[in-house]
Amino acid sequence: MYKNIVFIVLIVTTLASVNALTLTDKSFFWAPGSTMWYLEYLPPTYSPTATGSAKSPVIIFLHGAGENGSGQKSDLVKLKNAGGSIPYYINNNQWNVSSPFIVLAPQTWGWWDEPKVTPLAQQIATLYPGADTTRIYLTGLSQGGAGVWDSIRKTKAKTDLYAAAVPICGAQNYVASTDWQAPVQSGIPIWAFHNSNDPTVGVGNTNNWIAGLNGQGICPTALKTIFTSSSHDAWTAVYGPTSSINIYAWFLQFTNQRPLASCVTSTTSTTTAPPTTTVAASTTSTTTAPPTTTVAASTTSTTTAPPTTTTTTSTTGTPAYGTWQQKFSTSPSYGYWEYKPSFVPSGGKYPLLVFLHGSDAASNGSVTSTELNKLLVSSLPKFINNGQWNPAYPFLVVAPQSDLVNGNYYWQNAESILTNILSVYSSIIDPTRVYITGQGRGASGITMLSATNINKLAAAHMVRIFNDINPTYGSLFVSTNLPTWFYINQDDPHVPLSYQNNWVNYLTTTNPITPAVRSTSNPTGGLNSINDAYNPANPAATNLYTWFLTYTN
Ligand SMILES: *[C@@H]1O[C@H](CO)[C@@H](O)[C@H](O)[C@H]1NC(C)=O
Ligand SMILES: *[C@@H]1O[C@H](CO)[C@@H](O)[C@H](O)[C@H]1NC(C)=O
Ligand SMILES: *[C@@H]1O[C@H](CO)[C@@H](O)[C@H](O)[C@H]1NC(C)=O
Repeated sequence: MYKNIVFIVLIVTTLASVNALTLTDKSFFWAPGSTMWYLEYLPPTYSPTATGSAKSPVIIFLHGAGENGSGQKSDLVKLKNAGGSIPYYINNNQWNVSSPFIVLAPQTWGWWDEPKVTPLAQQIATLYPGADTTRIYLTGLSQGGAGVWDSIRKTKAKTDLYAAAVPICGAQNYVASTDWQAPVQSGIPIWAFHNSNDPTVGVGNTNNWIAGLNGQGICPTALKTIFTSSSHDAWTAVYGPTSSINIYAWFLQFTNQRPLASCVTSTTSTTTAPPTTTVAASTTSTTTAPPTTTVAASTTSTTTAPPTTTTTTSTTGTPAYGTWQQKFSTSPSYGYWEYKPSFVPSGGKYPLLVFLHGSDAASNGSVTSTELNKLLVSSLPKFINNGQWNPAYPFLVVAPQSDLVNGNYYWQNAESILTNILSVYSSIIDPTRVYITGQGRGASGITMLSATNINKLAAAHMVRIFNDINPTYGSLFVSTNLPTWFYINQDDPHVPLSYQNNWVNYLTTTNPITPAVRSTSNPTGGLNSINDAYNPANPAATNLYTWFLTYTN
């Protein structure tokens, strides 16, 4: 009996030690004669002799003020015990063993700043011959977030060390507008996180950085996720290996080889420089509930779509995330977000996808960069802005902004704006593949387009249509046999279900069109349709983008 128990205990102990992930105490000379200690995690795939794509990407993790050390090896244990941090997850066997990253978690004495951080990044090639120095990702929390901001604001060359940066509740505001130069010149992808009511480090720090960087036109657009929370801890929601916010997949899209030419090129002649804005804290952040709390009805999407291949378009190699930027038209006067894929689709022309927002994203009537940021709150633009777009999609996406004050309640200006978009992009888009989608009033705007523009469409998608059938408009859909998809949740809090039902009935019974109208009417889900309908991670059967690409006009 005892023997059996001892035997079982031995097995369990053995299994546990086999599965244990190892953090090793290490040191390097961060300055001549001056040692800095760090924890090292090597993935099972690491080999010092690896070459090419077999080399391991690297995460440098910077701890918070609570893990400040004295410069001694014995203080490293603080890093292992800091809940919700990357070393903590590794130490507790909660790390994804398939994750390919080398993780290096150095410990500072005093504050985290650029001089403390850069030497490790610069020595990685020497310390780890099997590391891929084009894929060094820098992240940190609180004081460590300050270390991230400080490390990427000094010079372009120092910023270029990193493939991407994720500062979380970073305890450092920008000091001067010159702080934005190095990251903008480098084109470093940044995704910052903060809690909305952080009592320790104000959310204004993150808001100011992101507004400043995007105001200076950083490309790709700097991303920001603000959780609705009154605690300081925004990191547990981000670093958790099973978190729905998968920064690890997001990291792996990027290397530090980023020719800016492919990012900042403007091919349109009607754009003007964004209006200069004073850096007021943006009120249009992407506010989401932390994914690990049990908040009901989270409208955040739960997966970061990793690059997957699409069968509809041939590309060479794995496509990278495209460019996402604000643009402005003077005549007619409107602003828009433009997403351009990282590749030119086969055939040389992009299919065009136009998104018309709902009242949640309408401007106050002014055409400004700040107003345009309102588009990022939901729907299709939110997915792109959050790095959750599928980079293999071939669409040139244009998301213009309307308002609710200048007689545009139903997107009456959709006609002139779409006409302008088609003209501006005529040389690079495939005129047989012009797709349009809209939600709420944006869906109404689609139905009110003229015959000329309806005739140019290959397919149309209306979410939460906000106007009842009117044969004047409906008949245009009939005469063109426009492929249509209507989408709503039956318990939508703002839109009468009868509008969609009457449209669908008109196009299926009164005047049947071919192909048959597609109608999605989910029993529940409330307002979530504005995100669910647009999620690039939806399986093929319910995937909007796959559906679009089956049609030409
Ligand atoms: C673990 O990492 C691998 C490799 O990056 C990834 O494919 C997998 O989805 C990850 N698992 C989870 C649960 O995130
Ligand atoms: C960090 O610890 C060092 C010594 O252990 C101390 O001198 C320093 O004031 C601490 N710094 C912070 C920011 O806590
Ligand atoms: C609209 O908002 C902008 C900031 O985006 C502000 O400068 C402007 O004064 C506002 N205009 C009106 C008409 O409220």
